Amino acid sequence: MTKAWTKSTWRQKPRVQMPDYTDQAALKAVEEQLAKYPPLVFAGETRKLKAALGAASRGEAFLLQGGDCAESFAEFSADTIRDTFKVMLQMAMVLTYGAKVPVVKVGRMAGQFAKPRSAPTEVKDGVELPSYRGDIINELDFTPQARIPDPQKMLQAYTQAAASLNLVRAFSQGGYADVHQVHAWTLGFTDRDEAEKYRDIANRISDTLDFMAAAGVNQDTAHTLQSVDFYTSHEALLLEYEEALCRIDSTTGLPVAGSGHMIWIGDRTRQPDGAHVEFARGVQNPIGLKCGPTTTAEDLKVLMEKLNPENEAGRLTLIARFGAGQVGDHLPRLIQTVQAEGANVLWSCDPMHGNTIKSSTGYKTRPFESVLREVREFFAIHKAEGTIPGGVHFEMTGQDVTECTGGVRAVTDEDLSHRYHTACDPRLNASQALELAFLVAEELSTRRQEAAARAV
Ligand code: PEP
Ligand code: CO
Repeated sequence: MTKAWTKSTWRQKPRVQMPDYTDQAALKAVEEQLAKYPPLVFAGETRKLKAALGAASRGEAFLLQGGDCAESFAEFSADTIRDTFKVMLQMAMVLTYGAKVPVVKVGRMAGQFAKPRSAPTEVKDGVELPSYRGDIINELDFTPQARIPDPQKMLQAYTQAAASLNLVRAFSQGGYADVHQVHAWTLGFTDRDEAEKYRDIANRISDTLDFMAAAGVNQDTAHTLQSVDFYTSHEALLLEYEEALCRIDSTTGLPVAGSGHMIWIGDRTRQPDGAHVEFARGVQNPIGLKCGPTTTAEDLKVLMEKLNPENEAGRLTLIARFGAGQVGDHLPRLIQTVQAEGANVLWSCDPMHGNTIKSSTGYKTRPFESVLREVREFFAIHKAEGTIPGGVHFEMTGQDVTECTGGVRAVTDEDLSHRYHTACDPRLNASQALELAFLVAEELSTRRQEAAARAV
């Protein structure tokens, strides 16, 4: 029997990767404040996203989830948000063109502030301090004061999330994302080859739109073409923040996380009896679950039962993140577990978190080749198992950073120091993100053609 759930029952479970706030009174005051603020998203939107993810799980749509590893207070600006949004639109165009299905766009945005860390402390020149855990918790500066968890930061994170979401909603609905603008989304610094390939698709789309207009077919579809649905997501790591923003949906009477449309559980916090799974199981939002090399078939079974007891399509997205060369060792057994249970899940590929290495110049990086290879392996295994690769999950930015090595406009180990801005994991830059979208589009288009050939 499943135990009763409230938004606070996670407090009775073992908690990992969360700060121990020293000033409990200050923490309580912040929680009370947040609980009075409006939710950032509304229940109807999360239901709509769930339906779209359900379609992706059946191969009728494709999930594109991407954005910063960690959003930062210092880098917060309209330009940063606009540029990431632009690259996502470009990638979505490329994917829609290849896959011929709608692309569900979900940003790692407007709430992606808290970070799990591989070690609780960090040592630099013989000095040991608590690790940085994201701007919602403490600060990146390497001083004892900066590393003290401060609950006030939750209020700043909420404000930044609200402002980010407001801008994203304006871009999505206010004309910026109108497909007729397909040429305008190009960023100046994307590689020439990628820009050329994108321009080619954009030209074809423009031609099609002109044709539709001439033939008078765009009257009914005008609205669909002029705006997009863009959703937000983040790792629901800081449960005090999540609890404070949890609300009851007045339509269904059920609890919803008001902090973002989709929330996910990280690879380090997916203990079936832990606090994070406990919180996520009770809210109605779409839930992501990271699956890594240590995810056992047994754990996955229990987690699917806990997180999606009704076996609802679109509720659970399994985000595979094994590392290039390792997908074949792990994904088949997890796919087989899902099939044996008859579970409805959406399979998505995160080719970032299994491929983090230290460069020869000392920077944390990800070789673009490994990222591409993991995506290819993910598709190949789904083909072999006869299952559906329904989405991708990337850490990327619209800024012209040098954080991942490789790509058409090759970033070398030496280049990493030039524009390395991430506060956490290395992100794909706009060129690399677009190149990756072309690869995924090619995989999807091949799948589609193979399926069509089988059907005749
Ligand atoms: C992340 O998505 O930023 C992350 C920490 O991932 P994972 O939990 O898969 O390591
Ligand atoms: Co990350």
